[in-house]
Parts: sequence; C-alpha cells; structure tokens
Amino acid sequence: MPKMRAVQVSKAGGPFEFVERDIPEPGPGSVRIKVQACGICHSDTYTKEGYWPGIQYPRVPGHEVIGVIDAVGPGVPRWRPGQRVGVGWNGGFCGYCDNCRRGDFFACQTSTDVTGVTRDGGYADYMLAPISALALVPDDLSSDDAAPLMCAGVTTFNCLRNSGVRPGDLVAVVGIGGLGHLAVQYAAKMGCQTVAIARGKEEEPLARQLGAHSHIDNTAQDPAAELQKLGGAKLILATVTSADAMKAVLGGLGIHGRLMVIGAVPSLEVNTLQLLRGNQSVTGWYSGTSIDSQDTLNFSALSGVRPMIEVYPLDLATDAYEHMMSGKVRFRAVLSIND
Ligand SMILES: NC(=O)c1ccc[n+]([C@@H]2O[C@H](COP(=O)([O-])OP(=O)(O)OC[C@H]3O[C@@H](n4cnc5c(N)ncnc54)[C@H](OP(=O)(O)O)[C@@H]3O)[C@@H](O)[C@H]2O)c1
Ligand SMILES: [Zn+2]
Repeated sequence: MPKMRAVQVSKAGGPFEFVERDIPEPGPGSVRIKVQACGICHSDTYTKEGYWPGIQYPRVPGHEVIGVIDAVGPGVPRWRPGQRVGVGWNGGFCGYCDNCRRGDFFACQTSTDVTGVTRDGGYADYMLAPISALALVPDDLSSDDAAPLMCAGVTTFNCLRNSGVRPGDLVAVVGIGGLGHLAVQYAAKMGCQTVAIARGKEEEPLARQLGAHSHIDNTAQDPAAELQKLGGAKLILATVTSADAMKAVLGGLGIHGRLMVIGAVPSLEVNTLQLLRGNQSVTGWYSGTSIDSQDTLNFSALSGVRPMIEVYPLDLATDAYEHMMSGKVRFRAVLSIND
C-alpha cells in the first residue's frame, strides 16, 4: 500500500503528530486530491483543541486546501485527474434538508461534513473530498496564494457581498489577521470607505498598503468614537477573536448599521437600546459554499486581491500553527506541501 505524510491530532489538546499513513482511495461521489498548499486558519483550533462537538480522533486538520485531482471515485461526473481545485471548510446549515426543516440544524448533514474537522483535511500529501466541496482554481493564482482564499477569503468576501453595503459606504474591519487583511482588501476593491481597526499604531502602514483609507489603534483610541467621527459605520466586519474588542466597537455603527460577527467568540454583550434607536443589527456570518469559494477565487484573480503569506514546509506545521496563534503571522501561514 503506497504511503503518504500526514500531520494529525490524536486527542483534544494533543500535539501535532507527524505520521505515515496509507494513501486513501476515493469512494463514490468523491475525489482524491494531491495537496499542493494548505493555509493555517485560527479555526484549526476546533480540531487541535477539540472545541468541535463529537470530533473523532485521530484527525488531520486543514480546510484551506489547494491541490490537483489525482483519482476520482465511482459515479463522479465531469471532474477528472489533473484539474486544480480548492476545498474549504464546507460545513454550514443547508436550510432545506429534513433536519433543517424541523429546526434541528445541528443534525444537518451538510453542517456535519466539515473539512479537517469531521473528516481529514489538508495537512497531508493527499486528502479526499466530496465533489460538492470542490472549487475550480483560476490559472493566474498560485496555489500558495489561493489556499487562504478557501476560508479566510471566502468568508470575508461572501460576508461583504451579502451585507448590503454599497460603494462609498463606511466599512470597518476589526481584527487584521488572516481573515481581516483580506476583508480590508475586498472592502476597498468594492469601493467602500475602509477602516482597519487593530492593536497598535505600528500596524497602520501595512493596513494602508492593503487598501485601508484609515486606521484605528484600539489600544490607544476609542474605536466607537473614532467611527462616529467618520459618520458611523454601515458595516462592521468583526474578525477579531476577542468579544471585548467587538463590544468596544459596536457604538461605532451608524443608522441602519450592522455588525457582522465572524470571529468565534463565545458570547457578546450588546446595548439593545442603542440597536433599536439606530435600527441597527448584529448578525453572524458563516463561510460559504464551494461556488462561493469559486466566486472568491475569480474575484481575487480579477481584482488583484492576494493574501500576504508566510510559507512553511509540512514538517514545520507546529511552528506555523504556533506562530499563527501568537498573532505574529503577517498575515496567513501556508503549508507548501507538493509542487
Ligand atoms: N465565521 C466563519 O465562517 C469563520 C471562518 C474562519 C475563521 N473564523 C474565525 O475568525 C476568527 C479570526 O480567524 P483568523 O484565522 O483571521 O485568525 P488570526 O489570523 O489569528 O487573526 C485574528 C486577529 O485578531 C486580532 N486581535 C485579537 N484580539 C484583538 C483585540 N483585542 N483588538 C484588535 N485585534 C485583536 C489579532 O491581532 P494581534 O496580531 O494583535 O494579536 C489577529 O490579527 C477566529 O475566531 C476564527 O475561528 C470564522
Ligand atoms: Zn478557516
């Protein structure tokens, strides 16, 4: 049986283990991908730390995957070996299966099929993926650049394009990490007046380089007051991992403004009186489908949006992950796995 390299986690909170595994065979309706690149997302903590309910170990993390199809399973129409594809997180309530229809969202089949969480992901030479999860990658994106677009990219692009904002609107992005640095670029490319909110004045030049029109240092300034000076935000896109940072910026919404929560924080205290007086809202936003990912890749290729990445070989996955967790990566760590 031919073997491959994989990085797995054997228990919640356990270390990454560098193992040799059998190369998997694709079943009906799925393909095998030779992985070229895989981004390291903050949501990999769900697998690493066991935050996802009922996770089965050992598990290979990684849901920002780009690679080439090298085998197709039975009953797979159209997809063929040699095509370069991306696979993202993929789970989300479908809204139309029997479980969703009776309100049992957490039993939704789609939401329980999550790359790198409920099935093995891209920290490996090969992985399997259902064809419903595949996005075609345009030729003019390198695999290392395309990988972060499969989660950080699609989540922020899809959030923005479904938020109702229009060119000229004031959009603030809180948390300039893997997701946030792409959100700033997308908002600027969509013609929005874009404000980056991050810790520290030293972040300002990079934020401006990404296209931000202004920058707020939330350690030295009151972000809500600063946004009000600019007229109040139509949209605050919160990719930050801190509920306190979200709460501190909520007062910066303008009339009919919306705070869209992307960062996975356990709870958020809101001033409901402020919300109702300003017809404001707080909404969650969850990633996107494979077609949303394909749209993200195409928009990025057309508009010149690219992630800023730090590239690591697979055997340095632990360093890459720890660097991401320490908030030091500018702005996405990518495992470059095969040519
Ligand atoms: N909703 C979805 O579908 C979805 C999809 C993907 C990810 N996520 C979630 O989105 C969040 C971000 O993911 P990521 O991969 O972008 O993480 P990341 O690369 O680690 O970025 C998080 C950023 O938040 C910043 N931050 C933390 N506390 C802050 C504070 N008090 N004030 C200002 N900035 C602060 C960090 O800045 P420093 O550099 O200063 O530490 C860091 O740049 C995570 O919670 C992740 O699980 C959600
Ligand atoms: Zn992710």
